[in-house]
Amino acid sequence: MRITGETRILGIFGYPVKHTLSPSMQNAALESLGLNYIYLPFEVRPEELEDAVRSLNTLGIIGVNLTIPHKESVIPFLDEITDEAEVIGSVNTIENKNGRLIGHNTDSGGFMMSLRADAGFNANGKTALVIGAGGAARGVIAGLAREMVHRIFIANRTMEKGERLAKEFGNKFEGTEFTAIPMSSLNDSSIMSSLDLFVNATSMGMEGTIFDIQFSLTPTHVLVSDIVYNPQLTAFLKKAREGGRKTIGGLGMLLYQGAISFEIWTSRKAPIAIMKDVLQKEAQLARQAADS
Ligand code: ATR
Repeated sequence: MRITGETRILGIFGYPVKHTLSPSMQNAALESLGLNYIYLPFEVRPEELEDAVRSLNTLGIIGVNLTIPHKESVIPFLDEITDEAEVIGSVNTIENKNGRLIGHNTDSGGFMMSLRADAGFNANGKTALVIGAGGAARGVIAGLAREMVHRIFIANRTMEKGERLAKEFGNKFEGTEFTAIPMSSLNDSSIMSSLDLFVNATSMGMEGTIFDIQFSLTPTHVLVSDIVYNPQLTAFLKKAREGGRKTIGGLGMLLYQGAISFEIWTSRKAPIAIMKDVLQKEAQLARQAADS
């Protein structure tokens, strides 16, 4: 990689940011297309976010990703956000378009692309259950609704939050039926047997907690997905696999959200195969480091 006076700067704002796999993935993509860009990690504390966002124009940075804990709090500092990011209420990508800062959400589209590309799943007319009602779950649920999923059950630890989300999205997406259910309904056979897709959109995979779920209640064709990518086989997915169900981890969502962001910033088609290869290698290294 050759840095010159014309190198354009991209990056990621997070706190912490040191575990991010995005710089490896994005720099490999930029380099493979011979683009004179660099993608850097920036550790930005929550109280410094506004200054950091203002610095995009000061320093001529042409785009950044946002990760924990900035995806929602960044919105007031932007000039514009897409309709999709507005509905979801979270922004993971800023595009600096000639000084105007535009917020996008590519997590949602990334999740949907991963379902299609990695598992051949088409949401149209299907029934899904999503655990979670936070920022990540909103992206997953909005993505499914945009692709005309027929029905979504929302199970959340704090049930009122799930109920509020079901009501809010019910008003926004006419083609989909939203039903909030208590976590105890995860063992309700009439709900479980109706599922085509079962998603964990909480951060629990990271902690390794196993939900009390009997995957034997789900149809054998159900696709079980976890948005967490570290570990790739979360406790939730492991249990689903032991029950003989097809599973999909969160690495694909990370890959495709990055690919969509790349295309927003560069107007070039993202080199998916190269990005995927780097991510798989990095994820393996991260796992080895964690194990040692
Ligand atoms: P994110 O942006 O990752 O979605 P978030 O907006 O803080 O983060 O949402 C976290 C989600 O994980 C919520 O749905 C949360 O449930 P509550 O709304 O009840 O807080 C869920 N979650 C986190 N830890 C959990 C746990 N140990 N058990 C059950 N749900 C959990």
